[in-house]
Amino acid sequence: MRRILVTSALPYANGSIHLGHLVEYIQTDIWVRFQKLQENQVYYVCADDTHGTPIMLKADDEGITPEDLIARMEVEHKEDFDNFLIEFDFYGSTNNLATREIANDIYGKLKNDAKLISQTPVEQFFDPKKRLFLPDRYVKGTCPKCKSDDQYGDSCEICGNTHVPTDLVNPYSVISGETPIRKTSNHYFFNLSDDRCTNFLKEWVSKPDRLQPEARNKVAEWFKDGFSDWDISRDAPYFGFEIPDAPGKYFYVWLDAPIGYFGTFKTLCDQRGIDFKSFVDAAKSKSSQTELIHFIGKDILYFHALFFPALLQFSGYRTPTQIFAHGFLTVNGKKMSKSRGTFITARNYLESDLNPEWLRYYYFSKLNSSMQDIDLNLDDFLSKVNGDLVGKFINIASRCAKFINKEFSNSIGPTKDHGILKEILNNKGAIAASYETREYSKAIRIIMSLADHVNQYIDKKKPWKLIKEDKDSLLVVCSTALESFRILSLYLKPVLPQTCQEIEKFLKIKPQLWKDVDCFFTSNHQISPYQHLMHRMTKKNMQKLTNQHANEKGTSPKSHGGESPADSNKINVMTEKFITIDEFTKIKLKVARIVKAEHVEGADKLIKLQLDVGQNKLKQVFAGIKSAYSTDELEGKFTIVVANLKPRKMRFGLSEGMVLAASNEKGDIFLISPEKGAKEGMEVK
Ligand code: 2FM
Ligand code: ZN
Repeated sequence: MRRILVTSALPYANGSIHLGHLVEYIQTDIWVRFQKLQENQVYYVCADDTHGTPIMLKADDEGITPEDLIARMEVEHKEDFDNFLIEFDFYGSTNNLATREIANDIYGKLKNDAKLISQTPVEQFFDPKKRLFLPDRYVKGTCPKCKSDDQYGDSCEICGNTHVPTDLVNPYSVISGETPIRKTSNHYFFNLSDDRCTNFLKEWVSKPDRLQPEARNKVAEWFKDGFSDWDISRDAPYFGFEIPDAPGKYFYVWLDAPIGYFGTFKTLCDQRGIDFKSFVDAAKSKSSQTELIHFIGKDILYFHALFFPALLQFSGYRTPTQIFAHGFLTVNGKKMSKSRGTFITARNYLESDLNPEWLRYYYFSKLNSSMQDIDLNLDDFLSKVNGDLVGKFINIASRCAKFINKEFSNSIGPTKDHGILKEILNNKGAIAASYETREYSKAIRIIMSLADHVNQYIDKKKPWKLIKEDKDSLLVVCSTALESFRILSLYLKPVLPQTCQEIEKFLKIKPQLWKDVDCFFTSNHQISPYQHLMHRMTKKNMQKLTNQHANEKGTSPKSHGGESPADSNKINVMTEKFITIDEFTKIKLKVARIVKAEHVEGADKLIKLQLDVGQNKLKQVFAGIKSAYSTDELEGKFTIVVANLKPRKMRFGLSEGMVLAASNEKGDIFLISPEKGAKEGMEVK
C-alpha cells in the first residue's frame, strides 16, 4: 500500500473558481479517487491562498477586513468544489496557525542553521497616497523602449521588453493613479544562488519521474540563466505572516503558500491522528516511504520545482516526490475572456443546469500527462456527453435493465457469453496504467471502445426479438450486458463518482473497489427497477451558458498567478477603475469662447451659453454654473467643452455639449479655462 499526500495548487482568495481552475482539481481528484479505489492510503488537501497585496486591496475596496474577505471566499470555494465532486480530505486556509508555525520553523532553520537568509536594501516604487510599496504589476507607465503608454512595471505587452518599474517613463500607481516615489527598505532574501542550492536542485530535478520531460527542459533553461536570490519579504502594510525577528516585515505570499500544503495537512493529521512527521520530516518520510505529489499549472513550475524544494531541503523537511504540471484551458480555441463571452466560472456552469459530471468526463477525455493546453470546445463537449457518455455507456443499462426488471423479476441470470466480458476484463491493467500515468484520454479511448463492443453485442443478439423467441437467451444477453456495465462503471468510477454510486444502488452491489472488477453477480442476484441515470445535454443548456456569463465580471481567466511576475490578470479588478487611453481619446475636448451667456427662465441653476468652438461654429450649452458666475462675467471667457457629447433635449432647449468645471463639497464652482493664448476650436488632449 502506498502512502501519498496529494495537493492541488491553492486558489487565491480574491477570485471565484472558474473552468480553468477546474482542469486541475478534476485532474487531481480523478487521480486521487483512482488511488483510493486501489486501496492506497491517500490524503488530498488544498486550501485558499489568502495572503498578499491583491487580497489586502480587494478587502480594502470592499470596506471589509482581509479576514472577512477570506472567510467569505472560503465558503464560496468549498461550495464550488463540493458541487464538482472534488473530494478533499481537508480544505483549509493558509491563514492558519499551523502554516504560520511551519513557515517560522523553516525560516528559522534556513537563517540560523543553513545560513541561507540574507538582507539587502531594495529600492522600490511606493504609492505616496496609499502608503504602500507597489508590486511590479501595480505600476504602469510608458515603455522605456517602444514608448507605448500604459505598460506594466515588469514588461511591455507591445514590444515585449522586460524592465523594472523604475525604468518606466511617467510611471503611475495602478491603485491610486499617483506618481510613485522611490523608496528604499531592507528586504530578506533566500540565497538560491548559493552553490549548495544550485547543486542540490540540479540533482533533485534529474531524478527520473520527478518532473515531466517538458518541465525538466524548462528547468534546464532556468539553470542556464543562473539563479538570483529570492526576495521573501514584503513591507507593511501587507496581509500575511509577520517575520518573527523582523517587525514590519512580512513573508511574501509565495513563501507561505506552498508551506500551506503542510499546514493544511497538519490540521487533518491532528483531526485524524495521522503521523504528520512521517509525511513531512526528511528522515521519517524516507523511512516510512511516504510520497508527496503536487498537481500544478505550468505557470507556477518555478515555485514548485525550484524555490519550494530548496526551502524544504535546507530546513530538514522532505521534498516533493513528483510534480505534475498541466497546461491551460482554452474555450473554443481561445483564452477565456469576458468580452468574448468565454469566461466561465464554476457558478456560471452550474446555473446553466449543466451536470458537473459532464465536465469531469469531458476533461477526462482530453487530459494526458503533458503540459499542453486543453480546449473546451462547446460543440464537441455536447457531442461527447450525448454521444459517448450517455449514448454509449449509460445506454447499455437503459437497453437491457428493463428486460431483467420485467421479464425476470429483477433477477440476473447466468452470463455465458464470456467473450465480451473477457475483453473488458483484459483491459483492466491498461486502464489502470493510464489512470496512474495521468494518460486519461487513453483510458477513455479504451473504455469507450469497450462500451462500443457491448452495444454491438446487444445489437447482434437483439433482445427485443429474443423476448418473443428465446427467453433463456434473453436472460443471458441482458445479464452479460449488465455485468459488462458494472465493470465499465467501475472503470469510470473515479470520473463519475455520483453516477457510479447510483449505479451501485441500481445493481444492488456494495461500493466497488478496483479489486472487485471480477466479482461477478452471484446467481439470481437481484437488481432494482431501472431509473434514468443521466440526462442528455441540450442546446438550451449551452445557450444559457454562453449567454449568462458573457456580461459578467469575474476574476482572471488564468488558473494561477497573483504577484508572480508571469501574471497579468489578477489585478484586472484594480484596473477596472481606470479607462484606457483609447477610451479617453474618444472624448473630444475643445477650447470654446463664450460668445453669449443668458439666464434661463424658470431654471435656478442654469445659464444658457453660446459657445464658439472654432470655424465659426456655435454650440448651445446649458451649464449649471449660475450660483458662481454672472452672465456678464462669462461673456468673452475661454473654457473647455466636451464637443462630441450627444445633444440632449432639455426642458429649455437643446444642449449640445458640456463645459468643464471643478467643484468642492460646498458646491463652489470653478470654470476651467485654458492658459492665455489658447484659441477657440483648439483640441485639448
Ligand atoms: O497561482 C496561484 O493561483 C497560487 N495561488 C497557487 C499557489 S500554489 C501553492 F504554492 F500554494
Ligand atoms: Zn515597449
